[in-house]
Amino acid sequence: MTFRAAHLLGIEHLAPDEIVTLLDLADRHAEANRSGTPARGTLAGLTQINMFFENSTRTQASFELAGKRLGADVMNMAMALSSVKKGETLIDTALTLNAMRPDLLVVRHHASGAVDLLAQKVQDCAVLNAGDGRHEHPTQALLDALTIRRAKGRLHRLSVAICGDIAHSRVARSNLLLLGKMENRVRLIGPPTLLPPRVGELGCEVFHDMDEGLRDVDVVMMLRLQKERMDGGFVPSEREYYHRYGLDAAKLSHARPDAIVMHPGPMNRGVEIDGTLADDINRSVIQTQVEMGVAVRMAAMELLAANLRAGRDLARGGRSDA
Ligand code: NCD
Repeated sequence: MTFRAAHLLGIEHLAPDEIVTLLDLADRHAEANRSGTPARGTLAGLTQINMFFENSTRTQASFELAGKRLGADVMNMAMALSSVKKGETLIDTALTLNAMRPDLLVVRHHASGAVDLLAQKVQDCAVLNAGDGRHEHPTQALLDALTIRRAKGRLHRLSVAICGDIAHSRVARSNLLLLGKMENRVRLIGPPTLLPPRVGELGCEVFHDMDEGLRDVDVVMMLRLQKERMDGGFVPSEREYYHRYGLDAAKLSHARPDAIVMHPGPMNRGVEIDGTLADDINRSVIQTQVEMGVAVRMAAMELLAANLRAGRDLARGGRSDA
């Protein structure tokens, strides 16, 4: 099994063979989940703490379910109500965690880089990034990759359009890295105000027109308009945005006839995507993305736990067979 990482902090740090190992394992978990036979002993005896400094519904639920399906003891720390609000620093939080001795730590934070910092400060524990600021959201990119691979039968030489609010999106960043590593062609489509600075250096084609950008693509990945990360003035109005950049059947008709439609959720229906299209099971794989999310998080935690246990065995002078 090829998976060397001690933490899952970003796609940036994963090699293509590690991505394939993780997706292959996630595929097996997805099948076991469907047949109601998850390997419940896999994380038995391990403690998983979920720390979400930023609101989340599906990602937190998905990590919780993934840990429970594999038999971990899962605890959610309600960070919105915690001592962080009283001024505790991230370093103090790390010290508290070290005293609690978790094995797996799942962290979402509004500041880019905060999860990396925490990973450096906690001891003997695997850290998983559940989204940090505008930086990375690795499990989202991995679940998107698994969804694409299952729908298209491959994860290379595909043409993928990432559309909308790219500047504020950690989902776009992680997907761009992953799809690039697996040798796909990525197009970015959005208004100039919602594209990151120096977008030309990212090595993908850039479009400001949906019809043009979507021509003959295999995958259409829509993004939420991230109002909470904007300072204002990025789009004239939601109505205007929908008219130019909202995905509907007419715009989708420029893509390949078998192109799939994706969205990480939560969706703003009628802003970045037409509600009827989002629910059309012949084109939209949005529900499959949620299903694959649990499987990918099970795989990520299983691989990290194996490396953690192997490291502990070595530290004890025992034999490692990982
Ligand atoms: C994404 C996130 O939080 O980055 N959502 C998610 O994880 N399901 C995308 C978003 O919030 O738009």
